[in-house]
Amino acid sequence: MEILDPKRSGSKTKLGLELPTDPRWAHVASMELEEILTDHAYCEQKAASACISLIQHYPEKAEMVNEVAPVVTEEWGHFRLVLAEIQKRGLRLGRQRKDEYVNKLLAFSKKSDNREERLIENLLTCALIEARSCERFRILSLEIEDEKLRDFYHHFMVSEAGHYKMFLRLAKLYGGDEKVSRRWQEYLDFEAEMVRALPLRGDRMH
Ligand SMILES: [Fe+2]
Ligand SMILES: [Fe+2]
Repeated sequence: MEILDPKRSGSKTKLGLELPTDPRWAHVASMELEEILTDHAYCEQKAASACISLIQHYPEKAEMVNEVAPVVTEEWGHFRLVLAEIQKRGLRLGRQRKDEYVNKLLAFSKKSDNREERLIENLLTCALIEARSCERFRILSLEIEDEKLRDFYHHFMVSEAGHYKMFLRLAKLYGGDEKVSRRWQEYLDFEAEMVRALPLRGDRMH
């Protein structure tokens, strides 16, 4: 199911995102619980594998390795929590879908020959996915009718907010505050346009 809201304002979210999600999305998502939980489950898997990949590609970045390593465990724990919620509700884990949001972001990130620059792009991409996920979890935690689900989503909101800050901090650590802040704004602007253009679907986290 799609909802479109031409009145979605351009005011920033608490996380600094340029375009807030339509709060009515939570209602639509709650109507497609099996699909939204399935999509969420795979988002958590992808978050875990993105962290593993960062460690594999940049083992010499000791501070990043130390910060990201426990997040692998945390994201996998998130996947298991979502899986348990699916099963508890007598629902089924469906198949993984094509992730348009993430694919478009990856296409936007610069494919530099310089691995240091690629690291910054990777960290900013991770930061943005965490920020948007966190924003969506917040809406679910506030708007969804089922009280247990509200608590469930609140837990993810808090956790992903921490990851968002971690990735942005690491990007600044390795790329420099000023340069990374400029690039981050480009990411935010691109993401806002992308979110505006993507149909807001009840069966998708993004
Ligand atoms: Fe997570
Ligand atoms: Fe996360």
